[in-house]
Formats: sequence, C-alpha cells, structure tokens
Amino acid sequence: MSVPSPPGPPASGPRSSEEAGNPLWLARARLGDGEPVDQLIATYAFVVPTDEALRAIAAASPRGVVEVGAGTGYWAHLLREQGVDVVAYDIAPAPSPRNQWFAGSTPWFPVRDGDHTVVGDHGARTLLLVWPTRNEDWPGEAVTLFAAAGGTTVAHVGERPGGHTGDGRFHALLGEVDRCWACAYQTPSVPCVCGVRPRFRRVRTVELPSLPGRDDDLGLYARDPDAQPLRPNPRRLRPRQRRPGPRLRWRGAPPAHGRE
Ligand SMILES: C[S@@+](CC[C@H](N)C(=O)[O-])C[C@H]1O[C@@H](n2cnc3c(N)ncnc32)[C@H](O)[C@@H]1O
Repeated sequence: MSVPSPPGPPASGPRSSEEAGNPLWLARARLGDGEPVDQLIATYAFVVPTDEALRAIAAASPRGVVEVGAGTGYWAHLLREQGVDVVAYDIAPAPSPRNQWFAGSTPWFPVRDGDHTVVGDHGARTLLLVWPTRNEDWPGEAVTLFAAAGGTTVAHVGERPGGHTGDGRFHALLGEVDRCWACAYQTPSVPCVCGVRPRFRRVRTVELPSLPGRDDDLGLYARDPDAQPLRPNPRRLRPRQRRPGPRLRWRGAPPAHGRE
C-alpha cells in the first residue's frame, strides 16, 4: 500500500520535536478555536502522542512493536520515526468503508488487514493497543494470546478500568484490579472477573494530553508470573491468621472464682 507523506512542520518559530512531526499535538492546541474533535480523530487518532510516550514505548521495545486496532496508523508512523520496527494491524484499516471512525481517512502507515489473533505470531515484540474498543472482548483476547505466545511487554494507551477503553477482563489481565468488584460489592454494572489470572502488571505510566472528556495515559506492563486468580475480596478469602497469644499456664490450682 502506498502511504502519502504527512504534512510538514510549520515554516517558522521555535518548535519542539512534537510540533515538528506530530500535527495532532498542534491541532489539539487549536481545539479552543472550534476544531471539531471527530474530524481530528478521523484524520489522526483517538489519543495525542507525545515525545515522552513514544520514547517510553521505544525504550521498552528492543524487538519492535506489534500494534493491533491501529486505525490510520498514526502512532505506528510516529514510532517508526523514532526508529522502532513496527508492524500494525486493524480489522478494517483506514480508509476501509467498514471502519466507523476511519472510513475514507488517509492512512499514515501501511496498516495491514488483520484481527487481534495475529499477536500469536509476534510474541517477541511489544504489544501496543491504542484506545482498544470499549466493552468488546478482543483486547482481552489479544492480551491472552500474546501472553501465550511468550509476550513480555504490553503498552496500553487509554483509560483506566471503567473508562472508555477495553473491558473488565482486559484490565484484569493487565493487573489493574485487585479483586472482582462486581461480586465483592454486588455491582451488576461491573463485569465479573472472578477467576481471571492477571498476566501483566503496570511498571510505568506516562501522562498524555487527552482530548476533551477523556483521561488517557500510557501504561507499560511487564509479565507477572506470580499473580493469583482474582476473587471477590482477597482480604476476606485469605485464611485467617491466628495471632499467637500468650499461653496461659496456671501454677498450682486454678483460681476458684466466687470463692474468697
Ligand atoms: C476506537 S478505534 C482506535 C483506533 C486507533 N488505535 C486510534 O487510537 O485511533 C478501535 C479500532 O480497533 C479496530 N478493531 C476492532 N476489532 C478489532 C479486532 N478484533 N482486531 C483488530 N482490530 C480491531 C477497529 O477497526 C478500530 O479501528
């Protein structure tokens, strides 16, 4: 697939590397001028990359990155600019008319047509998920398959549990919850994750300049081989510890209560 060159940097003025090569970073700053958010997303991505976030992913990915659900490939493009070896997939890559967000959008990177199961072939890379769809099961399935393929590093760009990205199982697999909150507090609006064994744990967070109404960050996750399957409340289910109290020994005859 031939991919057009992105627009060049502004002609003059002091520029960070963000301003030079990351037009979504610039466009976000113009949002107050009435720049429509939906149009920004369709042209670029759901989240604004920063140099710090791109460098953090690059540093954690000596064997490259596999991005799933890549949309236009904007993050993949900027990572490649950082020298990272990236392969990117989407079940309906831009400009596919099957994609509700990116139909007709110009791709930034040659995103391949493929679903999340491709991660099984890329266990040596970092798995990158940028704004994986809310309440769908494929992001969790991707993490499970990636772990089974020997994957050691996941990068999730999006919101924390209960937010706009992923589902309960996905966040549980990433070690973001310490119990099944649905069962612990009888909360039917939260999915039950009893029995899910976290495969990863968060080792680094990079704050991101979210689009309006969002609270995104980059989480980097490492394998957690020791995590136990989730339960309603680990504190309640842990076997009760008996405090070793002082052993009472009576010397001679025990005291006779009620007797002078
Ligand atoms: C909310 S969009 C995020 C796109 C992009 N990462 C971004 O931040 O702009 C979710 C993307 O996941 C893709 N997708 C949905 N199901 C998928 C699956 N099973 N495998 C791969 N991609 C999938 C959609 O086509 C869509 O492009």
